[in-house]
Amino acid sequence: MKKIALITGAGKGIGFALAQKLLQEGFFVIGTCRSGQISGFAHPDFVVLPLDLGERESILQAHKAIREQFGALDILINNAGIGPDLDTYQPDETTFAQTFDVNVKGTVFFTEPLIGQIRDGGMILNISSKMGSLELCALTDSIAYRMSKSALNMYTKILTNRLKGRVKVAAVHPGWVITTLTKGNVHARLTPAESTNRIYAFLKSDFASGVFWDAETQRALPW
Ligand SMILES: NC(=O)c1ccc[n+]([C@@H]2O[C@H](COP(=O)([O-])OP(=O)(O)OC[C@H]3O[C@@H](n4cnc5c(N)ncnc54)[C@H](OP(=O)(O)O)[C@@H]3O)[C@@H](O)[C@H]2O)c1
Repeated sequence: MKKIALITGAGKGIGFALAQKLLQEGFFVIGTCRSGQISGFAHPDFVVLPLDLGERESILQAHKAIREQFGALDILINNAGIGPDLDTYQPDETTFAQTFDVNVKGTVFFTEPLIGQIRDGGMILNISSKMGSLELCALTDSIAYRMSKSALNMYTKILTNRLKGRVKVAAVHPGWVITTLTKGNVHARLTPAESTNRIYAFLKSDFASGVFWDAETQRALPW
């Protein structure tokens, strides 16, 4: 039987490349995107569900579909994320709320009811960012984005403690990847496919649960 991976934000960028990689590697993939449709790509082992992490009703509908259409899950990859305040220096209430709604609140409340559906020996990967590291922070930009990824890292630690011995959990920095996340991503050097090859190498490795992993350098990061 094929292992089942659920990837949020699978319609473009890193999430789309992750879906393609896992399909190549023989997984059945449930991908989500807001529209529920990914044009120009189809695969017999790929199902797309609509999910807007900023909308409670959308999260509930996605849970219902996942519960009714699929049994146990093997891997949950919380990839969907936004950064509307990336490269800005003053917090703005609208983008701050949007960022926390999607990257933190939506991700937590999407994940919680699914935990019981993840098979023993399964895993949860939270696609975080080096920008959420408290120890590495030496700049002053992107307040909401950085804080949201620090919060996601804390959720990663909490899940690690809660699921010890049953499900492995990690926060993953995908590297600086050329995507539509922000126009000013001057650091971006990896293609989504290069990033996801590295994330896949990590996923297949015998990693210790609770790590914050830099997929680009293949090294652990400080929290
Ligand atoms: N690119 C980088 O250099 C980099 C570095 C560090 C971390 N990351 C992280 O990597 C992850 C993927 O980002 P990316 O670079 O691939 O950016 P991207 O191409 O902009 O993709 C973002 C994904 O998030 C989804 N999304 C946006 N708003 C959503 C919402 N309200 N509800 C559900 N899904 C939503 C999008 O889905 P739709 O198709 O519905 O728009 C899209 O699939 C993010 O968590 C990001 O923070 C990226």
